[in-house]
Amino acid sequence: MELKTAYKEIHEKAYLELKLNKRKSWSSADDIEERIQFYKKAIEDNNTSKGSSVLVLGCGDGETSLALTGLGYLVNGVDISPTAIKWAKQKAINLNLGTEFNELNIVKEQFPKKTFDVIIDDHCLHCIIPGDRKGVFKKTHNSLSENGVFLMRTHCGNPPENLSIEISNTWAPKTRCQVYNGVAGRYFGSSEQIITEIKNVGLKIKHKRVFQFEDNWPMLEVIAGL
Ligand SMILES: C[S@@+](CC[C@H](N)C(=O)[O-])C[C@H]1O[C@@H](n2cnc3c(N)ncnc32)[C@H](O)[C@@H]1O
Repeated sequence: MELKTAYKEIHEKAYLELKLNKRKSWSSADDIEERIQFYKKAIEDNNTSKGSSVLVLGCGDGETSLALTGLGYLVNGVDISPTAIKWAKQKAINLNLGTEFNELNIVKEQFPKKTFDVIIDDHCLHCIIPGDRKGVFKKTHNSLSENGVFLMRTHCGNPPENLSIEISNTWAPKTRCQVYNGVAGRYFGSSEQIITEIKNVGLKIKHKRVFQFEDNWPMLEVIAGL
């Protein structure tokens, strides 16, 4: 059976709710800070100089993109949700930062027409379901500059043991997706499957690590390059 998804509808609804509930961001401040430290170290270890270009996939309301701009990189964040992009643009104005934010569906549309020194999967690829994933990895490969790095933080593997009944009922092990009312919203491939997807488009793995925050799905961290 072919999987159905609704990338824009799912996430637009979520951002409208976050705004309604006066939340500061999709992710918690601790989560964002921890992720930024990983991105920062990986970029520095790759000898990527300040002023280099960074593309953030699924930038949401912009927290990581804005932080990386503050560190001296030229950042372009893209996301499918118009509400998230509007929110991110407003944050950039408030902080007086020149981050570029664009509404873009990474499955259906081309990435910005240039190459990037760093491409970051900012918790976005676990939203992309199996039939659509190869195209996104291919575009990532084609948009990386020669010495560029692809940084990924993505959920993977099996559900945590203490998952609530409501969430357990959405887990479809056959497709490895969470399915809500017939619509697949998240994909949790095994870490080996995801590493193979990355290698299959010609990217070389420089680092990989699986870890787990309490009560959450395992997380795969990857650094890859051409
Ligand atoms: C789990 S949220 C993470 C948001 C943000 N990066 C953060 O960590 O707080 C996933 C993000 O991916 C975006 N997204 C999902 N499908 C997308 C698609 N097809 N094209 C572009 N963005 C997409 C969503 O709108 C959402 O902002």
